[in-house]
This record gives sequence, structure tokens and C-alpha cells, in this order.
Amino acid sequence: MKIFTGIKPTNKLHLGNYFGALMPTIALQEEHEVLMMIADLHAITVPQIPAELKETILLTAATYLACGVDLQRTIMFQQSAVPAHSELAWILGSVAKMGELERMIQYKDKVTIKGESVSVGLFNYPVLMAADILLYQIEAVPVGVDQKQHLELTRALAERFNKDFGPAFLLPKPLISKEAAKIMGLDDPSIKMSKSAPNPKNYLGLLDSADEIATKIKAAVTDSEPTITADPNRAGVYNLLTIFSLASKRSIDSIAHEYQDQGTKKFKDDLTTAVIELLTPIQASITQHLANQTELIELLAEQSERARLIANKTLVKAKEMVGLLIG
Ligand code: AMP
Ligand code: TRP
Repeated sequence: MKIFTGIKPTNKLHLGNYFGALMPTIALQEEHEVLMMIADLHAITVPQIPAELKETILLTAATYLACGVDLQRTIMFQQSAVPAHSELAWILGSVAKMGELERMIQYKDKVTIKGESVSVGLFNYPVLMAADILLYQIEAVPVGVDQKQHLELTRALAERFNKDFGPAFLLPKPLISKEAAKIMGLDDPSIKMSKSAPNPKNYLGLLDSADEIATKIKAAVTDSEPTITADPNRAGVYNLLTIFSLASKRSIDSIAHEYQDQGTKKFKDDLTTAVIELLTPIQASITQHLANQTELIELLAEQSERARLIANKTLVKAKEMVGLLIG
């Protein structure tokens, strides 16, 4: 199947992102033809610091490569380097209705509920997302709950365009992944691990040093029971078991069994080793990609050119159908 994913280059990634989003996305390339887009135009719909954005785009590309994106199978490109995205978004913006966009939960949440003043770009965000997908005649888009409504809008716009102007677009289906891993905060296992948590000991950053990892895991909240058991009601211990299991590719039960009576300290020490062993080669590879920045930039340019060739075919077709091509 032809699959499309979009990644906003907006934050430094943590282990929750890695297990919950990065790994599942990269695993798709085993069986599918994947387009992986760095959604920089989506990122600027909320204010960004320009110098930081530039760095984060490169860091995102380096991270995905370090985690196993295979450019023989996958096209990984930068959204803003393919002008067809903005062009088709404009055309689709003339097909979309104000009311439809006003109903989008992410927009409503910011404007209606929180009363924030947002950019026109943010209002138009789902239309750009529709353009991203429709340009590549995509069959399936992996989506979490937060993006499902945007995909439904994509289908609605494609259907309306096809009906009004002719069959330009394939209707993409949502690919609901099997239960994705959910990693909780180390300081508070009742909330999701998150970069925006007030306590930096909440999350394990992909770029954290071995010392930081050790300190954070040592401080991780568990409970007063001395044994290690695989009991989801023991949220802190269970979360650490989940991380251990994903980092070492072993089952939660076998780890719980092994550490049952070895004490929390030994369990945490070995978990620390497992996380460091997982992250060390990834960090080395990220550093290497970032050190060869010219190469990384060239590689992204090449990839974006591959995407451009595909996207332009659909764009030309759509422009022709709308009556914009006069030659
Ligand atoms: P965010 O940066 O919160 O927009 O998340 C980017 C991606 O990482 C989304 O696919 C999230 O579902 C995933 N993600 C974020 N935090 C976690 C977490 N604590 N556990 C699992 N997945 C997560
Ligand atoms: N909106 C997505 C997010 O916040 C990112 C994204 C942009 C995307 N364009 C896309 C996802 C197209 C899937 C398909 O995560």
C-alpha cells in the first residue's frame, strides 16, 4: 500500500515519541511504500523561532534516519521544498467551507474553548493536510485519534472536488494502528510522558546523556511494594516495565519474573543499562548526520525532488480540471 505520514518538526523527541510514533512509523516501510513528510509549513501555523526551526527540521531528518528510515524504500522530504503543497492547499481552500473548518476540534479547542487568537494558517491547517495527502494518491494514512477528523475532512474535500471537477484524487483511508505504546511520565505515571511537563524528570529525551538517563530513572516514581510485578494498577512500576520491555525487546512478563525479588534498585539499574544501550547508537548516528550537515541538506533536497515529481503530476491534473491551465 502507499502510505503517507507527516511529522511536525516542533519538539525535541522523548522516549514516548520514540515508542509511540517513530518506531511504528518506521516499521511501516517493511511492508509498504511510505512517504514521510517533515511538516514545516504546518509547524509555522504557530509562532516558531526561525533559527530553531531550521535546526529542528535537520534534527528531525537526522533522527528518523538514525532510527532506521531506509531511503531505498521511503521518500522522506521537506514539505516547504515541494511548492505543490501550498498550491493545492489554495485550490482546496476554495472547495472547503468555513463551517467545516470551524468544526475541527483542534481549532475549536484553541479558539472557542480557550479563546486564543490564532493565525489564518492554523485555521487552514486541515486544508493543507488534505493537500499533503491528496497530491500523492495515497491509499492509507496512519492516524491517532487527534488527527482522525482531519483525515475525514481530507476525504470529504477529495470527494467534493472529484464530483465537481472530475476524478483527480484517490480517497485515503485511515490506518488505525494496533494499540500503540503509551509511555507515562517518570515523575507522575498518571500523565503521559511529555516534553511540556513542568518537571524535566518527567521524560527521557532521545538525546539525554547516560548520566541524565540514570538520574531520571533513579528518581522515577514507583510505590512502596518491594517486589516487581506486572500489574497495570501499579502504574509507576508498570510504566518502567513497559519501557524495559520495548527497549530490550523482551516481554513484560519475562522481565517482571526475572526481577520479581531482586529489588527496585537492581531493576532500575538494569533498566538504565537497557535504555542507554538502545539510545547510544541512535545518538551516535544523529550526531554523525548533523555533523555532515551539507550532506544531510543535499539528501533532503534530493528526496524533496523525488516528491516534487510525483506531486506535480496531481497538481497539474487538478489545475487543468479547475480551468487554470490555458496553454
Ligand atoms: P506530540 O509531540 O505530543 O504531538 O506527539 C507526537 C507523536 O508522539 C504522536 O504520534 C503521539 O501520539 C506520540 N506520543 C507523544 N507522547 C507520547 C507518549 N507519552 N507515549 C506514546 N506516544 C506518545
Ligand atoms: N497534522 C499532523 C500532526 O499534527 C502532521 C501532518 C501534516 C500530517 N500533514 C500530514 C499527518 C498528512 C498525516 C498526513 O501530527
